Amino acid sequence: MAHGEDAVEGPSVTSRLRPLLDREKIQAMVDALARQIQQDYMGKNPLIVGTLKGSFIFLADLVRRLDLQLQVDFVMVQSYAGTRSTGRCRVVLPLSTPVQGRDVLVVEDIVDTGLSADCVIKYLKRKGPSSVRLCAIFDKPARRKVPVHVDYRGFELPDEFVVGYGLDCDQSYRHLPDLWAMEEK
Ligand code: IMP
Ligand code: MG
Repeated sequence: MAHGEDAVEGPSVTSRLRPLLDREKIQAMVDALARQIQQDYMGKNPLIVGTLKGSFIFLADLVRRLDLQLQVDFVMVQSYAGTRSTGRCRVVLPLSTPVQGRDVLVVEDIVDTGLSADCVIKYLKRKGPSSVRLCAIFDKPARRKVPVHVDYRGFELPDEFVVGYGLDCDQSYRHLPDLWAMEEK
């Protein structure tokens, strides 16, 4: 779709934003990640687990490129950067699909401190899956507090707050097809 055809992002929506990655670049990266996942899970029956809310757009783009027998579920966690380096986290919305013996692929919007991804992976591993891997479209490695292995990694971003492509600021901007950096207020 050409720029300008979808008129939702007028200047009033993006006035505090600076463009970082356009939709074509993002979609090309989704293609590349889907190709790797397609190869690695060929003949398997993965459970794709999206982390709410931020991953919903990436997950929707990704699974539509996968020619695999797969199921989709979602979890929501809240992580708190506590005084201890590991932080604390809480599962706010649990999975509704059994995980025992499944090949699970966690789909994250962004890995920042790593607390959320670490929390989701530990939660899933307690349920006895065959394997758990992590796919994230964006990664801010400079911000990491806990080590997280990202098996399928999209863009490495600098330490800036970003919005669009599922990512929000106070629940706004998630619907923007491109990725933007928030300017300081
Ligand atoms: P964590 O710090 O790795 O646990 O990331 C927690 C969550 O914070 C991510 O899944 C995102 O939903 C959100 N997040 C982290 N960095 C950004 C950002 O730059 N913009 C919007 N949301 C973010
Ligand atoms: Mg997230």
